[in-house]
Amino acid sequence: MTSSLVPNLTGMGIFGMGMSVPDRILTNEDLAKIVDTNNDWIVSRTGIRERRITDADTATSDLAAAAALAAMEDASIDPEEIDMVICATTSGDYVWPATACVVQRRIGANRAAAFDLSAACSGFCYGLTVASGLIRSGTMKNILLIGADTLTKHLNWQDRATCILFGDGAGAVVLRPCNPEEGMISSALGADGNGLESVWIPAGGTRTPTSPETLNAQLNSLTMRGQEVYRFAIEKVPSIILEALKRVCLLPSDVTLMVMHQANLRIMQTVAKRLDFPMERVFINLDKYGNTSAASIPMALTEAQSQNLLHKGDIVVTVGFGAGLTWGANVIRWNRDR
Ligand code: UT7
Repeated sequence: MTSSLVPNLTGMGIFGMGMSVPDRILTNEDLAKIVDTNNDWIVSRTGIRERRITDADTATSDLAAAAALAAMEDASIDPEEIDMVICATTSGDYVWPATACVVQRRIGANRAAAFDLSAACSGFCYGLTVASGLIRSGTMKNILLIGADTLTKHLNWQDRATCILFGDGAGAVVLRPCNPEEGMISSALGADGNGLESVWIPAGGTRTPTSPETLNAQLNSLTMRGQEVYRFAIEKVPSIILEALKRVCLLPSDVTLMVMHQANLRIMQTVAKRLDFPMERVFINLDKYGNTSAASIPMALTEAQSQNLLHKGDIVVTVGFGAGLTWGANVIRWNRDR
């Protein structure tokens, strides 16, 4: 699915950002004590040095609510003003109800509708596009969009090919109407269900319910064909960026900051090379957090803001890719100085 955003009466901008990660740090050296791996392999193949891990008492909504409160404080908005809470996640607190409802209760957003959005690591990009439709049409005014995941709870800690990649975290943004020339000015999304077995959790749903057999076979854990996902990413990410830019007659050379899903440094380098885009303008924080799935882009935006890398008028591209397979890019003309 792709969508072209024609300028309307109002635009949609980002007015506040926040993030939350667990305190516990798991380094590559720590992992080398659990599985047959080493720091050099992980750093050279992925760029990851450490990641944050939740303890048994912490669930996705705990990180999501903390990120949401920080974003609302940044936007100077009260919880009662929020019209909708969207939580992009694939590691919700419960099978149902939605983690967005848990967050809505925790933060006191009493007027807000709430739902979860399941598009894995592309969830935040899908969420921006959905929120944009609601705000630009006048249906909603203030939307809290959260990307939150605790995928470390779904890892097979004997599988060295996957357990080194992921970390836990949450990022949130407050979205509001703005001048139509600013804020999110373009979006392009895609999906290919033919690749659903490339990265997935095979059991635990209605197709293959959890049983002693599925647990023994590690079918309730994240399973990935890494090279397939890698090839998919380096093919789709450059083309979806170009498509989103083309819709608003922009080129990669117009982009101030590229905020890609933080999955693998080599993916980001290959994408930048294919677009002839300088790595100095690609935001990177996966060395500290690993792949935090739907949280990675709003966490990166929050850190980019705190490093004073975002200024009014800048062209910022966010791009996500992941399970589904899904992918998406958004072009944002930054609508505020902080
Ligand atoms: O959010 C989206 C989700 N996923 C991704 O974005 C992942 C995309 N894929 C990747 O990032 C890469 O494919 C990986 C980082 C997962 C793997 O890197 P690779 O360069 O594709 O390695 P590989 O799977 O081809 O494995 C190369 C070797 C193998 O050994 P042999 O067969 O050559 O002897 C693996 O068994 O590296 C071995 N290996 C490891 N060695 C040390 C695999 N994992 C590890 C490890 N430590 N953790």
